[in-house]
Amino acid sequence: MSLVPVKDILDMAVEKNTSVIAFNAIDYNTIYSVCHAAENVGKPVLVMLYPEHHTLNRWIDPEGFAAAVKDVASTVSVPIGMHLDHCYDFNYIIRAIRAGFSCVMYDGSSLPIEENIANTRKVVDVANAFGVTVEAELGHVGFAAASEQSNLDLYTKPDVAADFIERSGCTSLAVAIGSAHGFYKETPHLQIERLAEINAATDAPLVLHGGSGIPNDQLEEAFVNGINKFNVGTEFLQLYLDTMGEFTRNLNGRWMLDFPTYLQGVLMEYLEKKMELSKF
Ligand code: 13P
Repeated sequence: MSLVPVKDILDMAVEKNTSVIAFNAIDYNTIYSVCHAAENVGKPVLVMLYPEHHTLNRWIDPEGFAAAVKDVASTVSVPIGMHLDHCYDFNYIIRAIRAGFSCVMYDGSSLPIEENIANTRKVVDVANAFGVTVEAELGHVGFAAASEQSNLDLYTKPDVAADFIERSGCTSLAVAIGSAHGFYKETPHLQIERLAEINAATDAPLVLHGGSGIPNDQLEEAFVNGINKFNVGTEFLQLYLDTMGEFTRNLNGRWMLDFPTYLQGVLMEYLEKKMELSKF
C-alpha cells in the first residue's frame, strides 16, 4: 500500500467512528517500528515529525524523514500517512510540503483567535494548492508539567469551533478538552461532554494531542465522540530511552550493532498494544 494521503486515513477513521494513532518519530528505528507494528496488526497509522526534533535536537530533517518514511512504507501493505506536527513557521511548512508531507499542522493556538484564523487560512490556501491538508488548533493544549490541562479558559469552545473551521478552511482540528503534552502529574480527565458538543457542531475530524498517559477507557470514549486522530509522543520516546539504558546495562555479549533490532522489537510490542485502541 505504501504512503497514502493523511486525509484518506482520516476519512477511514471517520467512517469507522474511531481514531488513527499518530506517533512522533525521530529516526529510522522509530519510523520502522511504527510502520511494521501497523503492518503486524493490519491497521493504518500516521508518522509525525515534530519540527523541533530537527531544528533543536538535530535528530532528522524533513527530507531525511520523508525519504525514510517513503522507503519503509513501501515495504508494508497497510496505509501509512506522513504528517508534520506543531509548526509555527510558514517557510518550514513549505519545506515539509516539498519533501512530501501530505498533512501539516499550523499551530496558532497561542495567538489571538483572529490571528490564528488568518494565519491558518494563509497556510491552507498554499497547502491545498499542493493537495496537502492542514490541521489547526483551537483552544490550547499546553504542557502537563505546567498543569495547563486543568485551565478551563484554554479549552476549545464548541460554538467557536465550527466558525473557526469554516473561516480558516482547516481540514482537521486539534481540540483542548483536558489533555496536555508530556507526562501528567495527575491522571487527566477528558471533558467528553464538551468533545461531543464540538463534534456535533462540525463535520471536521477532531484531533487529541497529549496522548501519553491518558487512561484507555477515556480514550475509548473520546474515539467514539469525534476524535479521529490521536497523537502520542512522550511515552513512546521514553520507552526508546529506557530500552537504550537497559540494553547498555545488560549487554550479555551483544554490542552496538545489535541495538536497532532489539529496540525495534521492544517498540513494536508497545506500539501493537497501543494500536488495539484503533478500531479499524
Ligand atoms: P505526548 O508527547 O504528550 O504524548 O503528546 C504528543 C503530541 O500531542 C504531539 O503533537
